[in-house]
Amino acid sequence: MKLSHLLSSEQLSNPELLDELLESASFMEQNEKTGNQPQTLTGKIIACLFFESSTRTRLSFEAATLKLGAKVIDMQSGMESSSTVKGESLEDTIKIVSGYADCIILRHPGEGTAERAAKVSSVPIINAGDGGNQHPTQTLLDLYTIKKEVGTFENLHIAFGLDPKHSRTIKSLALVLSKYKGLRASKDLLSQLESKGAKVEEAFDLSPGLDAHIFYINRLQGERFENPKEFENNRKKLVLTADMLKNKKVRIMNPLPRIDEMETSVDDSPNALYFKQAKNGLYVRMALLHKVLNS
Ligand code: CP
Repeated sequence: MKLSHLLSSEQLSNPELLDELLESASFMEQNEKTGNQPQTLTGKIIACLFFESSTRTRLSFEAATLKLGAKVIDMQSGMESSSTVKGESLEDTIKIVSGYADCIILRHPGEGTAERAAKVSSVPIINAGDGGNQHPTQTLLDLYTIKKEVGTFENLHIAFGLDPKHSRTIKSLALVLSKYKGLRASKDLLSQLESKGAKVEEAFDLSPGLDAHIFYINRLQGERFENPKEFENNRKKLVLTADMLKNKKVRIMNPLPRIDEMETSVDDSPNALYFKQAKNGLYVRMALLHKVLNS
């Protein structure tokens, strides 16, 4: 099937598309291991437009581009470094860049900016995070990690914390998984998730997460709190430690970066999946670039 843009994680609810992307990511991973990666994007240019900070998303997209034989043009700190400073609109920026590149990877603090970009772009737009709204490529790597490590999306008990109110990664993943059974999430997503048939419970400590199949934990999203004091007051209230995981089978996922939602002691636990999860971002982004540029 054709994929013109990836704007929302709900597009990944299409089983045909999801299966194709996960299979392609697995193929990319195998090719990396054998050192035989077909250069399917030779001659293409990918533009990475980042108006918000990033380590994993931007660099894994850039690595994915180079590994498939394409070239990158990029803009970091777009709010300060681009002609946005002079008042140029997002729409004009996208119209211009879509004349220079074959695909645009866009991260922006404004909710809905990927949709706006897609309306005026002549090339595929991939949403690399639009404010507190969506982060579908993170969802794709989360799903790839779950498929590899757990083997199924069915009947999973997943705990999400610590900041579902501001977290686009939690929202994006929960919305896709809610079509499968047995989901636990928190208040802000309740109505949307329940309307999709998910079973949802709220919890106010970490213990239910420790008995889930997967505990998807992330930092409080300081940059999205309206009141910085509220952020400071809530930091370090709940912290996952290695001791809590003793004799527990739960897999710990985290989109990263982490701040103080878990101790680094968790890294040595067999439960920790988050560094593998971040590495998987490379393979799924290779699969995605291959897909949108060959659709
Ligand atoms: N998980 C994630 O989106 O990380 P970055 O903000 O570093 O890209």
